[in-house]
Amino acid sequence: MLFGCFREVLSVAYIVMSPVPAFVDWADGRLQVPGLKVSEKKLGQLTGIFRDQQAWSRLDPETIVYRVWWWEPVPSGTEGGLFWGLTEIQPGRVGKEYFMTRGHRHVVRNRAEFYGTITGTGKLVLMDASGRTWFEDMTPGSLHYIAGEVAHRIVNTGEVPIRVTACWPSDAGHDYEIAGGHGFNARIVEERGAPVLVSAKD
Ligand code: F6R
Ligand code: ZN
Repeated sequence: MLFGCFREVLSVAYIVMSPVPAFVDWADGRLQVPGLKVSEKKLGQLTGIFRDQQAWSRLDPETIVYRVWWWEPVPSGTEGGLFWGLTEIQPGRVGKEYFMTRGHRHVVRNRAEFYGTITGTGKLVLMDASGRTWFEDMTPGSLHYIAGEVAHRIVNTGEVPIRVTACWPSDAGHDYEIAGGHGFNARIVEERGAPVLVSAKD
């Protein structure tokens, strides 16, 4: 009898302490969790990112290019923890160059990451420590392993928003100073109606 009571107290304590899980709508990647973080990038904030600066200055700086929602179940910087996020990039172009994320490497260089495409189409541009730059096609269901040291950027080459889910280490950090400020060595631009990778020097 006494043991039964004790067991009940224990299970109540367990229910109270058990954490609430997050929810993902797998149809569109939407996240639901208390304390969800959000950031928004407008064209006017993306200085020096697009090649055609004249085309960039003619566009409305208030245009939203992308939004990121993410969940930090542990404090940022925690070794061994993970974060989960969703990035949504609008369709659009600055001159011939498609809307894209700023792009970064992780501050702790050996920290890898997964990206998974939920909706839309695009290119994941990758650049390794030697400067070699390539891309992977992003389509609904494509899953991308981004090795540590590799800079990464999502480019929306489609007509609708691209939504990409991500999972990365909580101590990875973000370093936006790619190649000493020179940025990626190649860019995705539209040529004859199709996206192509061209050298950033062209
Ligand atoms: C996290 C990660 C993504 C990006 C997001 C926005 O490591 O890769 O969540 O942070 O797609 O891109 P950036 O950070 O380049 O503006
Ligand atoms: Zn990253």
